[in-house]
Amino acid sequence: TTKAKQFDLRDIVASYPDFPKPGILFRDINPVFRRNDALNYIIDEFYRAYGKAKVDAVAGIESRGFVLATALALKFGKGVVMIRKAGKLPGKTLKKSYDIEYGSAVMELQQNAISKGESVLIADDLIATGGTAVAAAQLVEEIGGKVAGFAFIIELSDLHGADRLRKMGYKVQSLVT
Ligand code: PRP
Ligand code: ADE
Repeated sequence: TTKAKQFDLRDIVASYPDFPKPGILFRDINPVFRRNDALNYIIDEFYRAYGKAKVDAVAGIESRGFVLATALALKFGKGVVMIRKAGKLPGKTLKKSYDIEYGSAVMELQQNAISKGESVLIADDLIATGGTAVAAAQLVEEIGGKVAGFAFIIELSDLHGADRLRKMGYKVQSLVT
C-alpha cells in the first residue's frame, strides 16, 4: 500500500499581491521547493506523465526552472540543459526575445547543448502567458532538438499560456491550475 500524501501542493504555494509590480498576484514556489515530500511527489507525477516518452535531456528555464529540471533529470536518468537569461552563457549561442506577464527579456541557449534529433523535456515552475515557454521551445528546435513536452508545477489558466502551447501541438503537463 502506498502512504497517503500528507499535503496538497495548492496549499503550499504562497501568494503575494502586487509583486513584483502592482496588479500582479505572484505565486511563490519556494515553499514547495523547501519540502522533500513535495519534491518527490512532483518528480513522480512528471515521471508518470513522461516516463514512457523519449526524453534525452531535461531543459530548465532560468531560474526557478533549474530546480525542477535538476530533480527531473535525476529521476529520468538524464542530464540538465540550462536555458538562461541572455549574457550568461559562453561560446556559440542562440538568443530569443520574449514577453512575460510582468516584463520582457532575452533567453539564450548554447548551440552545443543539444544534439540533432534529441528530445528535450522543458521544465519551469510556472506558466503564465507562455511567452517564456514558447521562446524556450523555439531555441530548442532552432538548434536541432525536439520538444518532448513541457512540465510546469503551476499553470495560471486565466492567462492561457498552456492552451497556447497545446494549440501549437505540444504536450503540456501541469500539477496545480
Ligand atoms: C517566471 C516563471 C516563468 C515565467 C512565466 O520567471 O518562472 O519562467 O515567469 O511567465 P510567462 O508564461 O508569462 O512567460 P521570471 O522571468 O520571473 O524569472 P525567475 O524564474 O528568474 O524569477
Ligand atoms: N511569472 C509570470 N507570472 C507570474 C506570477 N503571477 N507568479 C509567479 N511567477 C510568474
